[in-house]
Order: sequence, then structure tokens, then C-alpha cells
Amino acid sequence: MANKKQLAVLVALLALLVGPSAGLLGISISIGTGTDCVVFVGWPRLLFLRSLICGLLGQPYTPPIWRDPPTGAGLSVGYYNNSDYADSYCPGAEAAVRTAVQSAIDQQGRGIGAGLIRLFFHDAFVRGCDASVLLQSTALAGTGTEMEGGPNKDSLRGFEVIDAAKEATKAACGNRVSCADILAFAARDASDILSGGRISFPVPAGRKDGRESFANETVQLPGPDSSLQQLQTMFAAQGLSTEDMVTLSGAHSIGRARCLFFTGRLAAMDRDYAQRLDASCNGTGSPSNMVSQDPVTADVLDNQYYKNIDKFVLFGSDAVLISSPATKQQVDVNKANATSWEIDFAAAMVKMGKIGVKTALVPGETEIREVCSRVNA
Ligand code: HEM
Repeated sequence: MANKKQLAVLVALLALLVGPSAGLLGISISIGTGTDCVVFVGWPRLLFLRSLICGLLGQPYTPPIWRDPPTGAGLSVGYYNNSDYADSYCPGAEAAVRTAVQSAIDQQGRGIGAGLIRLFFHDAFVRGCDASVLLQSTALAGTGTEMEGGPNKDSLRGFEVIDAAKEATKAACGNRVSCADILAFAARDASDILSGGRISFPVPAGRKDGRESFANETVQLPGPDSSLQQLQTMFAAQGLSTEDMVTLSGAHSIGRARCLFFTGRLAAMDRDYAQRLDASCNGTGSPSNMVSQDPVTADVLDNQYYKNIDKFVLFGSDAVLISSPATKQQVDVNKANATSWEIDFAAAMVKMGKIGVKTALVPGETEIREVCSRVNA
């Protein structure tokens, strides 16, 4: 077994040499646990290696589990406004978060709002909406928390906005508002602001914060090279439908992306656009170069994304949305009807916010964190 592990590690090291995205993001294999074999799906262009590595470890790749749609049992709209529950009563909570988000956007620009929406998505898909993505260290993971995982490292932004919002809620009512709820409110507020008030929705709250976070669990996040089937499977594993996946992908009408994720597919894009991207990327896939995801309305959360598919989107995972009749039809509807997409997007954000929520305070497992980046002592 030791030899097999060494061989698998060798293959993984070789894989790092295969391409820039592989080198940056690496491969995650849970060697040593003896139960699982997981390899980033869709991040590096290394899908063919997945079964090889898992095979060498004698651990067949296990696809993710399909889950029922999340119910969000225990969450309620206006949760912090209910004076019947003294422990969670904090009527200024949502306003405090909104102010923090607005002031971050005023000071740093609209891109930070994109960062907050993505932060919420990356929290939801790993251990559910429990603010595990915000943790810098935990008892079991040490410093190898989700933020160190391939899809997150050197990529996520907006942590300081959540910290500022947390401080503001504490100033308003003490430590009553969970970091997980703050993240959900912040993503809602960013959606509202970046859409010019067109995407505005109430957020059910009452989430408690988790106490663990592991980098290797970020394999549950889809990557820019994911196939349609992988996207569908990974969303289904969270209880989200293919329709939710197509709807939520519209978030790629804002924010930025690093060149290494798309320079390999410039040939598949509109020729002029590809040339402009190539120039912005200085002809390289350097991770330090970034471009706007939407070349038309870069800072507005709108249905432009669907008009950009397939020649003006960056990732293979965007372009594949028109590779099946059903998803193409939804793309066409969203392209033609901004309002129906906006309504669907709001509903899908609420649904995503219900994934894996923890609503009971269980000593040692859940809490209201004092500081969002670390578990309570
Ligand atoms: C469908 C599968 C998805 C894939 C494969 C994917 C992949 C990516 C990648 C590779 C980036 C660029 C990261 C970087 O260059 O560092 C990105 C950015 C972004 N994604 Fe996604 N994503 C997906 C779904 C979503 C969803 C569901 C949302 C939210 C609802 C979302 C929101 C964003 C935002 C807002 C950005 C820009 C972030 C910023 O500017 O800081 N994505 N995504």
C-alpha cells in the first residue's frame, strides 16, 4: 500500500507539471484516511488522472451523494426582529450588514460585492451555510481550512467586509448574529446593490456557525473546466437542480477571473474578444492577471451573462450551458427575459442559503462566533 501511495503521489506531482492551472490548484487526495479518494473535479485539466490516482490508491472514486432539496427548517425571515427570543433579538442586525456592504462598495468599488456573492456560494457548498469558509484555523484542521483549498486560495475576497459587519452587529446588540447569517445577508445586499435594486429578497435567518473547516472538502466546488454533467452532479449533491445551476451561474455577469482559467480556450471565443483578453492577460495564463467576467456590463448583476454565452464567456463551465437542449432553452429564456431571471435568481439564492444549515446550538459543534475568522475559545 505504501508503494501504491508513493506512486500516486508521484503521479500527482507529475500532474503539477502538466499545466498552469494544475500547478496552481493542485490535486487533493485524502491519502491516509483509508476511506475516500477525492480529486479536484473540473479545476485542473486532469480529469483523466482522477481514476488513475484513485485506482493506484486502491480506492475507487466515489461520486458525490445526491441530496433532497434543502428545506431550511428552523430558519425564518425577520429572525433577529423577534423580541420573544431575547438571545437572538437584534433588530438592527440586517441594517448593520447592509451599511457595511454599502460602505465597502463605496470605498472599494463594485467588485467587492461580487466577492461577497461568491463567498456565500463557496460557504454553502462546503459543510452547508455555517460560515466554515471564513475560518482561518480550527482545532482539527489547523490552518488547512477551506480558504486554503484550491478553488478559494488567492481567489476569494470580502472577508474584511464580513468582519466589519460582525463588529457592527455586536455594537448594535452584542454577540447574537451568526457569521453564517451575516454572510447570507451580505450576499443578498450585494445582489440588491449590484443589480440596481432589481434583485431584492428577504433572507430567512437563524443559522448557527460551525466549528470545523477543511481545505480538502472544497473539492465539492465545481471548477472552470467542469463538464455539464459534473456541474449537474455537484449541484444535485447539494440538493440544487440543473435549473438552479443555470440560474445561479448568471452571477458570472459580475466580478473578475484570473487568466489561467480561460487562456486555454481563447480559440473557442469570439476572435476579437479573444484578442482583447489575450492582450489583457499579456499573452500568458499568469494568475496575477485578471479580467472582468462580463465584457458588456462588467459591474451590473444582470442577464447579460446569458447573452454572452457562448462566445463571450470565459469558462468552459459557462459555455457548456448551451450544450444540452434543456439548459440551452433556459439560457434562451433568461437571455430574452431579464425579469424572470431576476426572480429566479433571488429564489435560487434563498434556496442555496438553506443548504446544510445548523439551527440548534450544540456545545462543541455550533455557536455564534465572536470573531468570524476563528472559533470561540
Ligand atoms: C456553476 C459552476 C461555477 C463555476 C465552475 C465557477 C467558477 C468560478 C471561477 C473559476 C471564478 C474565477 C475565480 C478566480 O479567477 O480566482 C469565479 C468567479 C466568480 N463566481 Fe463562479 N463558478 C460557478 C458558479 C457560481 C455561482 C453559483 C455563483 C454565485 C451565485 C458564482 C459567483 C461568482 C462570482 C461573483 C465571481 C467573481 C468573484 C470576484 O470577482 O471576486 N459562481 N467562478
